[in-house]
Amino acid sequence: MFSKETYKNRRTRLRQQVGSGIILILGNNEVGMNYKGNGYHFRQDSNFLYFFGISQPGIAGLIDIEEGREIIFGDELTMEDIVWMGKKPTLSDRAAKVGIENTFPFKELLDYMKKAAIAKRPVHFTPPYRHDNMILLNQLTGIKIGKLQGKASTDLIKAIVAQRSIKSEEEVAEMENAVNITRAMHVAVMKAAAPGKRESELAGIAQGIATGMGNGTSYPIILTKNGQVLHNHDHSNILKTGQLILGDFGAENRNFYAGDITRTVPVAKTFSERQRDIYKLVLKAETECIAMLKPGLAYQAVHMEASRIIAEGLKEMGLMKGDTDEAVEQGAHALFFPHGLGHMIGLDVHDMEDLGEDFVGYSDEVKRSKLFGTAYLRLGRHLEPGFVLTVEPGIYFIPQLMDQWQAEGKFTDFIDYDELDNWRSFGGVRIEDNVLITEDSHRILGKPIPKTVEEVEALRG
Ligand code: GLY
Ligand code: MN
Ligand code: MN
Repeated sequence: MFSKETYKNRRTRLRQQVGSGIILILGNNEVGMNYKGNGYHFRQDSNFLYFFGISQPGIAGLIDIEEGREIIFGDELTMEDIVWMGKKPTLSDRAAKVGIENTFPFKELLDYMKKAAIAKRPVHFTPPYRHDNMILLNQLTGIKIGKLQGKASTDLIKAIVAQRSIKSEEEVAEMENAVNITRAMHVAVMKAAAPGKRESELAGIAQGIATGMGNGTSYPIILTKNGQVLHNHDHSNILKTGQLILGDFGAENRNFYAGDITRTVPVAKTFSERQRDIYKLVLKAETECIAMLKPGLAYQAVHMEASRIIAEGLKEMGLMKGDTDEAVEQGAHALFFPHGLGHMIGLDVHDMEDLGEDFVGYSDEVKRSKLFGTAYLRLGRHLEPGFVLTVEPGIYFIPQLMDQWQAEGKFTDFIDYDELDNWRSFGGVRIEDNVLITEDSHRILGKPIPKTVEEVEALRG
């Protein structure tokens, strides 16, 4: 948690930017896993954490702009709660630590909102993503559940995106910490990887470090020999020499900031020749794209540069052919690189995705591409100092996609399908780092994580 002033300043800016009405930010609730009392790990809503700082279920934050009031609605612990879960600081004490003087019982939120409705005052809320909060918002505003997403406040969304996109120094320090925990996870996995081990053993090592050093993982662990499946959460395979392990995992640190790092390593102690060629090409795309980063550059242009580097390298390997620029313009490279180069990261691994990807990642000047592959790019807009983003190019051999494109005769001028047939079982390589945009350049967050072929093989030795 940051100082009281940090939260007060954030709320003041929010109030000024939204201008009028009531801002309502709902916290998250406990969610039952298989019955109500056996819950999933509790994670507070990130907007609530950013403006109200308290990680506790069952509370809501309200800023009444005209009345100049800030309130947290929530109930104090009952004796029964204390018997089962222990004594905790009171809600009013916790609220005071984030500069809030008013705490009211949760049921009074309904009365507050009824009065607001009678007075026809605008209520600003963010798009709800949990069903319990959809039901609550329906009760509080009278808006049908199916219409809530569309009725979320664009003014509030834009004001939040404007603030949360620019990380303060104290936030960057938290993010460095998240990356350093993530580094420990990756180094441990690289050292432990070996033929005969199950993917789940390695995933367990990563999970254990994340839990031990932080709040656990910032998203479900991807650790697989089938790296060509982009978000593969299966960990059931036993690893064999000749395979690659793609590990995309990160820690959430104790102040709720996310790390999101990918490394790809051989199950054997060294890369095979083919693996090394593809790995070096992905590394070239990653390092050259990172080297370009500075304020004013549109990230969509960096994505296109990664695509060109990948297409050019694949041409040298005989997998692609024809004019590289034309191939990329038409989207032929997306057979191998079917996702975006990166996204904002912060309190969320895909930062602020609940607010809408286009509000976060695009602007009046930069619009989302409609091309397969590039359309998945979550961040396209011009970079600004204080942005933290991921750079994560990859090359994948997805047999089903290869077969479909070949059957459709797609991009036969740019793809050598005969050569491609020899690569069906390759898997995938992705390399990902988290990068801060500085006043005139960029900085990779955290201590360096082994990345060159030599560094990776040294750890596998
Ligand atoms: N870990 C998911 C991603 O890299 O976007
Ligand atoms: Mn990732
Ligand atoms: Mn990522």
